[in-house]
Amino acid sequence: MKGKNMKKTVVITALLALVLASSQAFAADGAALVKSNKCDSCHKMTGPAVKTLKEIEARKAPDLFYAGSKFNKDWLVKFLQNPSQIRPAGTVYTNFLKKGEQDTVAEPPKCASKLDAGGAAAVADYLMTLKDASMKTGVAKLGEFSKAKAKMLIIKTEACNGCHRIEGNGGVSCPTFEGIGARLNPDFVYNFVQHPQQFDPKIWMAKRELAENDLQLIVNYIASLK
Ligand code: HEC
Ligand code: HEC
Repeated sequence: MKGKNMKKTVVITALLALVLASSQAFAADGAALVKSNKCDSCHKMTGPAVKTLKEIEARKAPDLFYAGSKFNKDWLVKFLQNPSQIRPAGTVYTNFLKKGEQDTVAEPPKCASKLDAGGAAAVADYLMTLKDASMKTGVAKLGEFSKAKAKMLIIKTEACNGCHRIEGNGGVSCPTFEGIGARLNPDFVYNFVQHPQQFDPKIWMAKRELAENDLQLIVNYIASLK
C-alpha cells in the first residue's frame, strides 16, 4: 500500500513538473520551428538593430529580435496562422512605390508564416522570450480617456496620420493603426512614440517631446483600436 502511494506521489510530482516546464519546452519547440521555417530569411531574429538607412532599405520584413517587448502574445498566435497586411505599402514603402502621374503602390508581400495552431502557440511563446532589456515596462496607464481629445492630438497636432492609416484615412508608408491595439504591448507604444530610434536607430518617425498626459492619451487611444 505504502509503495503504491509513494508511486502515486512520484507520478503527480512528475506531472506537475511537466506542466511547469511545458511553457519552457514550448518556447524551445518554437525556436526550432523558427529555424525550420526559415523565418530568419526575411526577419532579423537577433540584435543589434541596423545602423544605416541603406540597411533599412534592404529590410525584407520587420525585426523580431525584440518581439517579446513589442507584441501581445494572443495577437501573435492568430497572426502566425493567417498573416494579415499591416503595412499597406510593404515593410519599406520606397521599395514598392510606383512613380507616375499619381504615385501608387505595388501589392507588397504579406508575411509567409503558415503555422498550425500548435506551432503558432509554440513560436509565440518563443518570440515572447525575445525582450528589449532597455525598454521601460509598467509605464502605460490605461483607463478612461477622451477619444475626441486623443484624435485632436493625433490628427491635428501631431499629424500621425501623415504616415499611419487611421480609421480608413491617412498615409500608407508605415503600419496601419487598424487593429494596432490588439497587436502592440501598450508599454512598447509608450516607449516607441517618444523615441523610435531606441528600437530602430535610423527609422524616419521623429522623436517627440510629449507631455506625460498627452503621451498617455496616445497610448490609450492606440490600445483601444482592437
Ligand atoms: C518571405 C519572407 C517572410 C518569411 C519567411 C516570414 N515572414 Fe513574417 N513577415 C514578412 C513581412 C513582409 C512582414 C510584414 C507584413 C506587413 O507589415 O504587412 C512580416 C510580418 C511578421 C510579423 C509582424 C511584425 C510587425 O512588426 O508587425 C511577425 C510577428 C512575423 N512576420 C513572424 C514571422 C515568423 C514567426 C515567421 C516564420 C514562421 C515568419 N514571419 C516568416 C515576411 C516574412
Ligand atoms: C514621418 C512618418 C511618421 C509619422 C508622422 C509618425 N510615424 Fe509612427 N511610424 C513611422 C514608421 C516608419 C514606423 C516604423 C515602421 C515599421 O515598424 O515598419 C512607425 C511606427 C510606429 C509605431 C509602432 C510600430 C508598429 O509596428 O506599429 C507606433 C505605435 C507609431 N508609429 C505611432 C505613431 C504616432 C502616435 C504618431 C504621431 C504622434 C506617429 N507614429 C507618427 C512613421 C511615422
